[in-house]
Amino acid sequence: MRALVGVGGGIAAYKTAELVRALAERGVEVQVAMTSAAQQFVQPLTFAALTGRRVITSLFPAAGGAETLSSAVEHVSVAQESDVLVVAPATADLMAKFAHGLADDFLSTAYLAFTGPVVLAPSMNNNMWLHPATQANLEVLRSRRHLIVGPDEGLLACGTAGPGRMSQPDVIAQAVLSAVNLRRDLEGETVLVTAGPTQEPVDPVRFLSNRSTGKMGYALAEAALARGADVILVSGPVHLTPPRGALVVGVRTAAEMRQAVLDHLERATILIKAAAVADYHVAKVPEHKVKKTSARLSLELDPTPDILAELGRKKGDRLLIGFAAETEGLQQEARRKLKSKNCDMVVGNLVGREGAGFESDTNEVILALATGETLALPPASKRDVAGRILDEALKLRLALHSAQ
Ligand code: CTP
Repeated sequence: MRALVGVGGGIAAYKTAELVRALAERGVEVQVAMTSAAQQFVQPLTFAALTGRRVITSLFPAAGGAETLSSAVEHVSVAQESDVLVVAPATADLMAKFAHGLADDFLSTAYLAFTGPVVLAPSMNNNMWLHPATQANLEVLRSRRHLIVGPDEGLLACGTAGPGRMSQPDVIAQAVLSAVNLRRDLEGETVLVTAGPTQEPVDPVRFLSNRSTGKMGYALAEAALARGADVILVSGPVHLTPPRGALVVGVRTAAEMRQAVLDHLERATILIKAAAVADYHVAKVPEHKVKKTSARLSLELDPTPDILAELGRKKGDRLLIGFAAETEGLQQEARRKLKSKNCDMVVGNLVGREGAGFESDTNEVILALATGETLALPPASKRDVAGRILDEALKLRLALHSAQ
């Protein structure tokens, strides 16, 4: 598990070193990011020594430093790679920034780019804590279901007594573990996920494809890995970082995807077909580039192999989860595909709407289950939707087994 630990500018920053150690002792990989105010209290070197990693100290690379695209978008990549965001001490200033969506430094920017669980350990003067502005921000953060640990009551650095002390590092570390809900309920399973689009060549330089980005499939692979599964990710061409620990098999065409899936079918116990496979391919791909003329050009297309339907025939006692991307009639289509392709679950999503389907970081889906039920999930990040799909898959396995 990976945690991004953000250190705010407060006296309690020295206790965050203990927190980082407590997390490392519990097997958590920690990446530390410090605000510039935090660096007035503790040296980045302290955290670099504790984590063995470079500490992130600003949004932009240092002047004269190596200016690469990866450092310029580090807040996004670090957010994507982390399973939990912990901020300790969470100062009044950071709480206000998070509550209002300001993004003027690394930590506040990473907060907006992060979609997983957030743990905040506030620490400040008691009057600052009790101020209606801070309390209003706290309400906003609670409404986002962030886990707020503390503050504790006691004698504060400013000499007054009251609520405002940062909680003990061990207590925060424990809260972090419970926030990510470290279930290892997929241990012993091998989950085969297909993701992304396929590309069907028209000629040596052109192809037919679709708008799938692979985000849903990659979120499923990551969620399964985090829950202890072995993961085989058969991926069409996408621009995403491969999840650490997965066996990634890159493919281009539907035919290649089919072959890769069949090659790994034996090992798999759960099959998730999140890929948006092209339904047609060009019947005869010319050896050379097609030249432009003023005449109408027709392409002769043949259907691609329906991988999901083939898996429906070959799945044995494996759990088979298909996807249905529809622009209308979602529920009927999902239930129809469930039956016609012999799936155990079909995840249906309406595409062509904001906040769902292709190119979006969020998704709103229904789950058509082989038990006859259809569940509508509330809109959520693709990471959360992935978690729910896996929860329901495990429940379904139990239900189907006990029905036999
Ligand atoms: N699928 C597949 N092989 C194909 C086409 C689709 O395995 N050649 C899988 C997808 O991975 C997805 C499911 O089938 O899990 C549904 O994809 P979709 O394009 O919605 O369905 P189609 O079967 O193509 O149905 P239709 O075009 O009639 O909507």
